[in-house]
Amino acid sequence: MKLCMIGTGYVGLVSGTCFADLGNNVICVDKDKKKIKHLSNANIPIYEPGLSELVLKNYKNKKLTFSTNLKKSVKDSDIIFICVGTPTKKKGSSADLSQIYNVSKEISSSINKFKIIITKSTVPVTTGDQIEKILSKKNSKKKFSVVSNPEFLREGEAIRDFTYPDRIVIGSNDKKSNNILKNLYGPLISKGAQYVHTTRRAAELIKYASNSFLATKITFINEIANLCEKTGINVEDISIGMGLDKRIGGRFLRAGPAYGGSCFPKDTKAIISTADKFKVNLSVIKSVIKSNKNRSNLLLDRVYEILNKKIKNKKIAFLGVTFKANTDDMRDSSSLSMIPTLSKKGAKIKYFDPTGLKDEFKKIKNVSYENSIRKSVEGSDLVIIHTEWNDFKSINFKNLIKNKKCIIYDMRNIYSANKIKTQGFKYYSVGR
Ligand SMILES: NC(=O)c1ccc[n+]([C@@H]2O[C@H](COP(=O)([O-])OP(=O)(O)OC[C@H]3O[C@@H](n4cnc5c(N)ncnc54)[C@H](O)[C@@H]3O)[C@@H](O)[C@H]2O)c1
Repeated sequence: MKLCMIGTGYVGLVSGTCFADLGNNVICVDKDKKKIKHLSNANIPIYEPGLSELVLKNYKNKKLTFSTNLKKSVKDSDIIFICVGTPTKKKGSSADLSQIYNVSKEISSSINKFKIIITKSTVPVTTGDQIEKILSKKNSKKKFSVVSNPEFLREGEAIRDFTYPDRIVIGSNDKKSNNILKNLYGPLISKGAQYVHTTRRAAELIKYASNSFLATKITFINEIANLCEKTGINVEDISIGMGLDKRIGGRFLRAGPAYGGSCFPKDTKAIISTADKFKVNLSVIKSVIKSNKNRSNLLLDRVYEILNKKIKNKKIAFLGVTFKANTDDMRDSSSLSMIPTLSKKGAKIKYFDPTGLKDEFKKIKNVSYENSIRKSVEGSDLVIIHTEWNDFKSINFKNLIKNKKCIIYDMRNIYSANKIKTQGFKYYSVGR
């Protein structure tokens, strides 16, 4: 089939590449000329394990092409996936749908034969109805079908998640598009993915409800970790004891810093805003957002406590600054609030991240990037393990840190307290 992905970010590039690998002809479109130029030279602008190889393979065999020409790409394709961003509005907490509507207007003047227009972007309930209205202004309803097909891939696991999804959700209000999409996803369904066909509005809500539920799970175990710290219990025992109950499940039950990333923070806010519009109070999700906001402050308070409230001139090393491992995505990472706050209080911060220097910290006083674990922790008073990269899982601190008074604060519970204590360092972790 001929597919067009509009928006070549994490979602558009990964899903476009994987669709090409399944034998489809895919054009990935982006308005960012630099990004398309890089991609056309086989430079992948994001860090995602396994993606470079797959892009290169499909680009070479001409299954995957890149373009900035949206109109022509739409005309040449049968199925159009909208994969542009839906960030939080600058004012308020609802989703900014301007990218979605701008793209819809451009698509509208390029419908030369029947096309399925799909939102893969995460969009609030009724967005599909609005897209349909925009397209209907210039086109007969027989010429197109608007479908919601939310994407559930996780950064860092994106190719595996796309290829072996738990479920494929298709929200379409007509049989024709449902049949075509069932066929498109056939290779994944035959490998065991559940195919869930719903109304368009239901599919839109499934995505928000899923992300809000996962954010709730993380926040829940983070609060339980607070109680564990006060009662001398290891939160990992709680996670295991709870998670073995099949009704609960063990995933997303690991205590740590505030959740971040490009999805949970914005999606929890957006679903509340949608519910407000319909005069429904999503009080559980509201309290999750509040608790998560407090989480970074709570962990910072712990840092102050560990350093006896003497932050000025303290040398602090951050190992990992992205919101989770195996991605270069900094969006809403808790390090974005922690590092500037500590810098304001006079700390001298060095950080290392396997995905390199971050523009976000370039202008912050007394914050510098080091290109190795060794250089970042050298001479530190406190080492904060912020992200759970494999690179940080078997560090011999004894070999790297001469200052025996250095303290390790493991925000991801990577190490056992005993292992670090035998190396001669004071060690703190989360919920244990
Ligand atoms: N990142 C994730 O892990 C993830 C997972 C599931 C769903 N989602 C959802 O998918 C959507 C996209 O997320 P992302 O992380 O891939 O975003 P992104 O910011 O990485 O990429 C979006 C791309 O769209 C392009 N774009 C914007 N307007 C355009 C236009 N008019 N024409 C062509 N290109 C245009 C931008 O230049 C950018 O490259 C969001 O709604 C997000 O919530 C993201």
